[in-house]
Amino acid sequence: MATFTLPKNSRITGKGQNHKAEGAANPARVKRFRIYRYDPDSGANPRYDSFEIDLDQCGPMVLDALFKIKNEVDPSLTFRRSCREGICGSCSMNMNGANGLACTTAIEDLKGDIRITPLPHMEVIKDLVPDFTHFYAQYASIKPWLQTVTPAPSGKERLQSPEQREKLDGLYECILCACCSTACPSYWWNSDSFLGPAILLQAYRWLADSRDEMTGERLDSLEDPFRLYRCHTIMNCANVCPKGLSPARAIAETKKLVAERAI
Ligand code: SF4
Ligand code: SF4
Ligand code: FES
Repeated sequence: MATFTLPKNSRITGKGQNHKAEGAANPARVKRFRIYRYDPDSGANPRYDSFEIDLDQCGPMVLDALFKIKNEVDPSLTFRRSCREGICGSCSMNMNGANGLACTTAIEDLKGDIRITPLPHMEVIKDLVPDFTHFYAQYASIKPWLQTVTPAPSGKERLQSPEQREKLDGLYECILCACCSTACPSYWWNSDSFLGPAILLQAYRWLADSRDEMTGERLDSLEDPFRLYRCHTIMNCANVCPKGLSPARAIAETKKLVAERAI
């Protein structure tokens, strides 16, 4: 159920720390990062800490700045990352109001001070790390694997034509970063029952797969006023996806399949 105000202990009230860049040769190359900090063990409310970074002493991406801060200023700063190549999806966060991947977002592309918060409308475990438990449970609910009833051809893979394989383009590339779902107003208010754009794109990825034989069952589980139909085609999801995918299109195709089978 939607709540419209933050609980008291989630409000940003704490006074943050201010870390200055010392000895920068060119002050014009100093950039300030304002970073959301929350430590559940401290019992304190969240706060913003400021870190000035000399861009001449830092790599080009937001993730480079986070590493510099963690390695040289405050080792307690907590964030997820793995591949630093836009492949694993783990460094998703909100930078100057837009969701994206810290490893593929260039510092130079963000104007003014850079404000970094966790993905919106998710519970926070610590600092920039949101809790993906519910998101992954929703992912598991769509049974994201190939389901068949006919036996596999003896000694062979289940083959696809190039045209059948092409239907997975724009779907298989999803890295489950959740940038889209956490930018979707419908998901903000109904994430308990609406699957959200990322999971619905994944669901359509199996509906579009010529080898899968559970289309009817998959549509049965999606045909629900909340799980699928809370999407109102607002399009935030497509605007924000760092892989250039369109969950909104996948959702529209799924709605079409539901409508077609009813005729
Ligand atoms: S198109 Fe649908 S899923 Fe995408 S942001 Fe809008 S409401 Fe959410
Ligand atoms: S569709 Fe795009 S934004 Fe959404 S989870 Fe997949 S890669 Fe991330
Ligand atoms: S670290 Fe893997 S996507 Fe950014």
